[in-house]
Amino acid sequence: MKTVLSGIRPTGNLHLGNYYGAMINFLKMQEENKCYFFIADWHSLTTHPNPQLLHANVRNILSEYLACGLDPEKATIYVQSDVPEIAELYLLLNMHAYLGELEKTVSFKEKARQNPENVNAGLLTYPVLMATDILIHNADYVPVGKDQEQHLEMTRNYAKRFNSKYGVEYFKEPAAYNYGKELIKIPGLDGSGKMGKSDGNCIYLIDEPKTIEKKVKKALTDNGPEAPNTPKPDYIENLFTILKVVSTPEVVAYYDNLWNTGETKWYGNLKKQLAEDIIKVTAPVQERIGHIKNDDAYLRKVTKEGAEKARESARKTLKEVREIMGFKSF
Ligand code: TRP
Repeated sequence: MKTVLSGIRPTGNLHLGNYYGAMINFLKMQEENKCYFFIADWHSLTTHPNPQLLHANVRNILSEYLACGLDPEKATIYVQSDVPEIAELYLLLNMHAYLGELEKTVSFKEKARQNPENVNAGLLTYPVLMATDILIHNADYVPVGKDQEQHLEMTRNYAKRFNSKYGVEYFKEPAAYNYGKELIKIPGLDGSGKMGKSDGNCIYLIDEPKTIEKKVKKALTDNGPEAPNTPKPDYIENLFTILKVVSTPEVVAYYDNLWNTGETKWYGNLKKQLAEDIIKVTAPVQERIGHIKNDDAYLRKVTKEGAEKARESARKTLKEVREIMGFKSF
């Protein structure tokens, strides 16, 4: 059995792209692997969030994860800051991370450029904290997007560096989890490539049916096909891509056919159908989010038990790392 670990920074809410791109795969992974799903709240400190907002965001993501079907009985679901062992291993690994390589990290350079007034040490060592998250459970696989691949590469370097410095075969080199063909990419509504958190582009799991209808209605279209059997422009293809995920093959074939005949004036119907079918997917999840989010006792139980399981694994790693590095008790 392989160990899979995934972390998410608590900012904003999950959208349809997260749902089909990650959550659906997580549900499968938790059946087959030893999974750690955690909320990286320490990572979000690099931007100094306000304390109320930080807590609210952790509650959001946790509730949404659980509502999507992540199962605390099958996976270890925890909040990073509930596991103090991570902080200690982070300290130890920081001594093996060099200023030059940290300054060269793409994400650091970008953030430093965007917020020159807040280039804090935590921002610089963000990749070390992420490496710690991964190495503390000796994860085999980490599902990450393109923007995190460099951090994963750095994690492998820290694992190798530690092993060679102390002459051990201790840390595994984690690999990016590749979904291959199974990865569904949900495009945005504004004609741009990917669904992301920008206005007019994104449908959140918690969007009310009316909001979903409104957003879909506003999605970018044109006057219809200019002739029969022409290729669809990207922004129309995008709507079909979403339709394929949420609707039946018959529905998709019906609209595909309309496109191919070159008829016009059916986008309104297509959008109505698309909104309706998106709502069919989000409504039950949304209902569960509503219940879970207000159930403090349940959230407390999940995070407490998750932290206990995560700490057990983290404690073991930390104990061994301490020994390897020469911290021994008398
Ligand atoms: N840096 C990741 C992001 O911004 C979040 C994250 C923190 C993470 N620790 C991790 C992801 C460990 C995977 C593994 O998306």
